[in-house]
Amino acid sequence: MSPDLSAIRTEYARAGLDERDLDPSPSRQIERWLREAIDAGHPEPTAMTLATATPEGEPSARVVLLKGVDARGLVFFTNYGSAKGRDLASNPRACANLFWVLLERQIRVTGSVAKVSREESEAYFRARPRESQLGAWASEQSGVIAGRAELEARLAEVRERFGEGDVACPPHWGGFRLVPDRVELWQGRPSRLHDRLRYTSIGDQRWRIERLAP
Ligand SMILES: Cc1cc2nc3c(=O)[nH]c(=O)nc-3n(C[C@H](O)[C@H](O)[C@H](O)COP(=O)(O)O)c2cc1C
Repeated sequence: MSPDLSAIRTEYARAGLDERDLDPSPSRQIERWLREAIDAGHPEPTAMTLATATPEGEPSARVVLLKGVDARGLVFFTNYGSAKGRDLASNPRACANLFWVLLERQIRVTGSVAKVSREESEAYFRARPRESQLGAWASEQSGVIAGRAELEARLAEVRERFGEGDVACPPHWGGFRLVPDRVELWQGRPSRLHDRLRYTSIGDQRWRIERLAP
């Protein structure tokens, strides 16, 4: 029997969000909320849903891990040849959403992406576990494969190729930086009268802050 979804309802009442609480810099505000999610022991606190679209407007969303945030933007790593990588190569507009249910908060970041420098990608790749490094060579992310056995055969090939040596960062793998032009913070409130505050870039690292109806 399918669950009665209409009866599932959560009342959000943990906290409020006031204009006076906000850091003038959205990146510092994102860092603050990330820190609070980490300190609250939230599972996968850096998991963010990333939406991209083809130039024709065909949308697609998936979860990636946020690996860095500062005034320049939000960094994540992926296979440049994946579906998202291909979307972003032809249409750099993207939107990322972080949702922390324990804190009753979400952040939406809208902007354009650019590849991070090769040095940045290589530095992060070096810090990954060896098995993940090998996986990046073995998996043509988003391509169709005949079965699990094909993936395992490719992994065995790659393992053989690198032996005991260092695993180099594949040329098709690296980071993207989402450079925001809008950042919206959402804090759940009772009776669906949630708080929503939005930063909009007005240039020179300056931001206008507005309240939105929930
Ligand atoms: C919790 C979680 C974290 C993930 N982190 C990443 C990531 O950092 N980079 C990545 O390429 N895929 C990550 N994935 C896998 C993606 O969601 C997705 O399946 C993959 O990138 C292929 O997406 P695409 O075909 O739209 O390009 C993650 C999935 C989950 C559920």
